Amino acid sequence: MSTHDPGPAEGAVELRGIVKRFPGIVANDNVDFSVARGEVHALLGENGAGKTTLMSILSGAYRPDAGTVSVGGRTMSFRSPKQAIEAGIGMVHQHFRLVQPLSVAENVLLGAPSTFRLAGNATEDRVAELAEAYGIRVNPSAKIWQLSVGEQQRVEILKALFREASVLILDEPTAVLTPQEATHLFSIMRRIASEDRAVIFISHKLDEVMAVADRVTVLRAGRGVATLTIGESDKANLARLMVGREVMFRVARSDHDAGAPRLTVKGLIATGDLGLPALRDVTLEVRAGEILGVAGVAGNGQRELTEVIAGLRPAISGTVAIGGRDLSASTPAERISAGLGYVPEDRLGTGLIPSLGCIDNVMLKRTDEFARGFFINKQAAEAATSELVDRFDVKTSSLHSPVSLMSGGNIQKLLLARELSAGPGALVVAQPTAGLDVGATEAIRRLLLEQRDAGVAVLLVSEDLDELLSLCDRIAVMYEGKVMGVVGAAGADREQIGLMMAGTASDPA
Ligand SMILES: Nc1ncnc2c1ncn2[C@@H]1O[C@H](COP(=O)(O)OP(=O)(O)O)[C@@H](O)[C@H]1O
Ligand SMILES: [Mg+2]
Repeated sequence: MSTHDPGPAEGAVELRGIVKRFPGIVANDNVDFSVARGEVHALLGENGAGKTTLMSILSGAYRPDAGTVSVGGRTMSFRSPKQAIEAGIGMVHQHFRLVQPLSVAENVLLGAPSTFRLAGNATEDRVAELAEAYGIRVNPSAKIWQLSVGEQQRVEILKALFREASVLILDEPTAVLTPQEATHLFSIMRRIASEDRAVIFISHKLDEVMAVADRVTVLRAGRGVATLTIGESDKANLARLMVGREVMFRVARSDHDAGAPRLTVKGLIATGDLGLPALRDVTLEVRAGEILGVAGVAGNGQRELTEVIAGLRPAISGTVAIGGRDLSASTPAERISAGLGYVPEDRLGTGLIPSLGCIDNVMLKRTDEFARGFFINKQAAEAATSELVDRFDVKTSSLHSPVSLMSGGNIQKLLLARELSAGPGALVVAQPTAGLDVGATEAIRRLLLEQRDAGVAVLLVSEDLDELLSLCDRIAVMYEGKVMGVVGAAGADREQIGLMMAGTASDPA
């Protein structure tokens, strides 16, 4: 790349001194970022580092408070995404913007300038041609609602290519993909870059950045901290730049034998929010002193499984039992009394009440303990909460201020603290580290391992396969409401788990 002259036309994108403020936060603090044609450039940073904001400025969704944007050597002042698209900037967002009842080809065409309009079949042909050229596997006449999330993402990419984007931005694109789909996406990205276009790959996953990028720019707390070639990078130095200190990649996990089955679900059948089948005959067994992971692409029944176990969603048939006691007909409160702890995915929805403080949130589940007739013993409640907050290292300015003001990591610690303070025999945890910074992630993972070592049966649902591989004893893989198989986590084959996540059975026979 550096062998030829980098004339002004060479730079695909140049951002200089970008500042973007939101109330109470500087999301981008004087950031420089430049991308050349022909490269895959990773934009790496922890959650909240300012990656999406920076790219929203480049793609015309936000206007910067200071700084300049230039594309192909020309200074731009985009007032809308449309203007950015016209200048060749295409962005694939984390949440897709496709029209479900329309076909792939219709979506690709939608909103494209009229010069791109083609008659009827000609569009489908053109889309098929484009897909073919970039190795993008998708059927142009399929309706969006018929497609998997991974396929929908390919449609978004086709949309950008159809508009002849010379700079393609992908915002955390692998979050919704199986490992195989991610590998396929990387080959598409390389293909696009090889056409003298630029690809900007937003990610917080070091392995992926190392696998696909030519260069990487690291953002930390709104600032650009470094731009490196992949040749001069390794996971350890990127992690240090991203987090600002040394990072341990593996939490120490002791060897020990699991005990008897503690949490068992048998033959669970249940529907999802739209009344469609979500669980199709799920049977699992979590033993005392083990972490059983549940892997799968989002939306394959994992959430419904945790809700049925917690008693928040009715099962059509099947049983849930703790320590051999059938709880299928029990209320959520009865399940808690029977020793079930539950840390849901939406921490401030089902988990905690955002407008209440720590004390009230802790008391929600421990009313009995602190009740005096109709009243709560406030002093005792405050003392107990204060002890929990200390023990679990929850940082908060006051035990009385709304928990919604705390950071995600502290909210999660409080939620876990409350669930663990009841001394559960079984713990169901969903996406415990999603959106948390590296420090909080480490702390939460340690807590889960401590529970396992103390003999609790832990069911851990996570979309982060690396998290499952490093914490779990065994991993169950879900696909379309079914358990495709359960594998031992020690020496587990990522490739095999990936195939199971895509619906291929574990048993090759
Ligand atoms: N529209 C917005 N309004 C207010 N704050 C925002 C908005 N968008 C992002 N932020 C804040 O700006 C910071 C950077 O966010 P973002 O660019 O989304 O980070 P990243 O994509 O790296 O996770 C975060 O603290 C986030 O809460
Ligand atoms: Mg983002």
